[in-house]
Amino acid sequence: MLRHRTAALIVAAGSGSRAGGDLPKQFSIVAGRPLVAYAVAAFAGHVDEVVVVIGAGQDDLARDALGHDMRLVAGGPTRRDSVANGLASLSDAVERVLVHDAARPFVSPAVIARVLAALDDHDGATPVLTVADTLVRGKGLLGEVVPRDGLHRVQTPQAFRLDTLRAAHAGWPAGDEATDDAQMVRRLGGRVALVQGEAMLDKITYPDDFATAEARLAWESRSAGGFDVHRMEAGEELWLGGVLIPHDKGLSGHSDADVALHALTDALLGTIAAGDIGTHFPPSDPQWRGAASDQFLAHAARLIADRGGRIDFVDLTLICEAPKIGPHRAAMIARIADILHLTPDRVSVKATTTERLGFTGREEGIAAQAIATISLPRTAGRGEA
Ligand code: CTP
Ligand code: MG
Repeated sequence: MLRHRTAALIVAAGSGSRAGGDLPKQFSIVAGRPLVAYAVAAFAGHVDEVVVVIGAGQDDLARDALGHDMRLVAGGPTRRDSVANGLASLSDAVERVLVHDAARPFVSPAVIARVLAALDDHDGATPVLTVADTLVRGKGLLGEVVPRDGLHRVQTPQAFRLDTLRAAHAGWPAGDEATDDAQMVRRLGGRVALVQGEAMLDKITYPDDFATAEARLAWESRSAGGFDVHRMEAGEELWLGGVLIPHDKGLSGHSDADVALHALTDALLGTIAAGDIGTHFPPSDPQWRGAASDQFLAHAARLIADRGGRIDFVDLTLICEAPKIGPHRAAMIARIADILHLTPDRVSVKATTTERLGFTGREEGIAAQAIATISLPRTAGRGEA
């Protein structure tokens, strides 16, 4: 099969004036991630290179959103200028370019494949949706109906051969505005294919569109377990579930040895396949000696939040003969809920003995096991190898 070197140009240099808000819309947070990060992630693995066009003064926002390795190009006063700057930055080795609005976060691999396939026998390709509603003219008063037959809503990503799109930009009359690239290629004589678009591709333009985008996100549920044991020793404090419990012995080990919070931390880290507590807080590192374990649990919760995830439920089982957990259960639930920013009905704390059998039965140690269930946004393209 012929290999075409393909670049994705994501235009993110607008001011988002219609969307309002403190930040330009492309940097607003949707389900835990800046909007532009969704589009960038969607193209990764489907093209050879991704370039993001940003506005003046947006460098720090873009670096925070996309990391330091992202290729950034300065945009211009109009979308057309921004695309032109992006095109100029591409090397001549690039044969095909996909131009995409950062304000359309959810790009499926299928739509990328459709526009690229159409490029084989067209000068360009754009996803479109037919218009479903009746269209009318009017200002406050109903005017004439506009026949919707043959009308389409135009979306991105739009695909072109690089030389075709460069020629369209070079030949475009300076004073004319163009809200997308397909109309430019067409006006200069090119044949642009219409391929099936997707509702998920709708652009975020107005304030209400953010809520729609969040609602459109597909979520996946993930559960993972955690397990931990610490030794009981005289002269140690007994921290369990973030609560200091009066007892004749306490747990010894890494940090404050709160076996319950450690099991919960491992369960949460497991849901995002982020290693275990030792990966993040090595026992060999002296700074964690005697450290309060609530910070480990809060760290795991933060990693999940950074991915746009939400903790649905945590369930903890303590395995010990003594102390009795019942009198402390409510305090543990309240403390864990507080650390994880959950309501207490999403935290379960249980306890059991091992009938005086084994190390827990002999009160030589306490074991804890935990299960955490979270929801993670499954954006188009994510999770596919
Ligand atoms: N865009 C751009 N450079 C510009 C203007 C727009 O790169 N000078 C980008 C936007 O960041 C957006 C896409 O083009 O991803 C589509 O434009 P639009 O939805 O109009 O975004 P804004 O121009 O930012 O919004 P508004 O028109 O409401 O100010
Ligand atoms: Mg605009």
